[in-house]
Amino acid sequence: MPKQVDFLVVGSGIAGLTFANKAAKYGDVLVLTKKRKADSSTNYAQGGIAAVFGEDDAPEYHIRDTIKAGEGLCHEKAVQTMVREGPALVEELHSMGCRFSMNSRGHFDLGQEGGHSRRRIVHAKDFTGQEIERVLLEETKKAGVSISENEIALDLVVQDRECQGIYYLDADTRQIDLIHASATVLATGGAGQVYNHTTNPPIATGDGIAMAYRAGAKVANMEFVQFHPTAVYSIKIDGRSFLVSEAVRGEGGVLKTKNGVTFMKKYHQSGNLAPRDIVARACLEEMHRTRSKYVLLDVSHLQADFIKNRFPTIYETCLSWGLDITREPIPVVPAAHYLCGGIYVNEWAESSIPRLFALGECSCTGVHGANRLASNSLLEALVFAKRAAKRVESVKALHASRPIKTKKTAVVGPNLLFQIKEIMDQYVGLIRSEKGLQSAKRMVDNFRCQFDDGIHIINAESRNVTVVAQLIIESALERKESRGLHFMTDYPKKKKMHCKDTIKEPVLRDAL
Ligand code: FAD
Ligand code: SIN
Repeated sequence: MPKQVDFLVVGSGIAGLTFANKAAKYGDVLVLTKKRKADSSTNYAQGGIAAVFGEDDAPEYHIRDTIKAGEGLCHEKAVQTMVREGPALVEELHSMGCRFSMNSRGHFDLGQEGGHSRRRIVHAKDFTGQEIERVLLEETKKAGVSISENEIALDLVVQDRECQGIYYLDADTRQIDLIHASATVLATGGAGQVYNHTTNPPIATGDGIAMAYRAGAKVANMEFVQFHPTAVYSIKIDGRSFLVSEAVRGEGGVLKTKNGVTFMKKYHQSGNLAPRDIVARACLEEMHRTRSKYVLLDVSHLQADFIKNRFPTIYETCLSWGLDITREPIPVVPAAHYLCGGIYVNEWAESSIPRLFALGECSCTGVHGANRLASNSLLEALVFAKRAAKRVESVKALHASRPIKTKKTAVVGPNLLFQIKEIMDQYVGLIRSEKGLQSAKRMVDNFRCQFDDGIHIINAESRNVTVVAQLIIESALERKESRGLHFMTDYPKKKKMHCKDTIKEPVLRDAL
């Protein structure tokens, strides 16, 4: 492993790999990833990428839909950038060999998802993410990017107020080391694993956000956790709940109570394709009302061949559990799915710490506001990764490598993952209250005290999850209103005075 690189990327999902492939033109790139290369949320993305290709579509419509979903908190300039620069990058993926589904006229077969006023979801059947990950990994070979697996980034090295690189743990040798870089790029994904019920894979423990926050970076909008309404009830695969894509409702899937009664029209004029927060809360309410642990998602009225061809992963996975979705409805529940908040960045993906970039789900670019529009996250990752790569041309000139004066000692931290998840599920879910959040805060603050400032080689994820849980709870407590994904029983309405980002910045005891 080199001791110094031009560009150090943490994470091998769509954000990290897109950046790495593009930045390789400007210098040497090393990607560290904590498990195997393809272990990422990207690899499980189903629905697709939202982008303007339809004949009846226009950037203005996509911008309008995104801003409407974001409930007053979207940064309009960032949304404009994403929507206008996105389609060329989707086409680039296609030209790299990404096998998106095509229609009989040779154009992208555009899917429909909630909150979109037009069909604009480019997809590869229901395994879009796997296809993107495959192509981007192929590209890294051509671009000469090095990827090192089983390397866990632990903490950032910040000196003279600039990011100098990271400390990491080699999971095979159990050695801690340090890499210097001209630019360090966090692309560590989301934090669904802060909850028990999540569609996110086990890697999603918010490491990048926790590392950046500990190092003094600004973090924003952490209260906006998106719950997907339709994860399969009670079955987990490799630590994650299995998602049934929103695209299934886009093609005619219908939500019903356990007694077979449809209910979404009661909650929103767009029915089954209402914005995701509304559908998720409606499902929860119907579960309570009917005293059921799930609601049903029914596609059995659609043509069996169409289901098998359009949604092969969902069809086959359910069938492997004995559920033939062409004949029977799927029991589903809401599950934590996406974090709209993250490391606060500008339009070039630069964080508040010089020479530290953040991309993809661990960042907060301002495009999602209080509620992300379906299939906008893969698009956001592509666009801001490209922009960051453009930016590092100049960062390289700064060249890093000032000698590092301090080195932290490795200590063993407690494993608190299970307790934190229980607290977050109980008090910090889809519906929140001041009292519940205060209880959660007391418990999590107590856990936080069990970690000191050393580098926790063992249970690093537990330490990060504790920091992220704290950030979500504190941000939720500050927002004394209901807006988008954040719903408080004590304050059920939006308030004008809260129409702004929630920004958290740590008071540093000492520089890392
Ligand atoms: P990820 O793809 O999660 O990659 C993070 C990387 O960082 C991983 O390689 C991980 O191992 C690495 N990492 C993390 N911590 C460390 C550490 N400490 N050290 C080293 N490496 C580390 N969005 C859409 O737009 N459309 C969809 O259809 C869609 N479907 C989805 C379906 C599912 C089931 C899920 C879970 C999400 C879906 N999303 C979708 C959201 C979208 O997939 C993610 O937001 C996006 O893929 C995140 O990409 P990323 O590159 O930021 O992070
Ligand atoms: C899905 O396929 O329903 C997920 C889409 C997304 O999260 O954007």
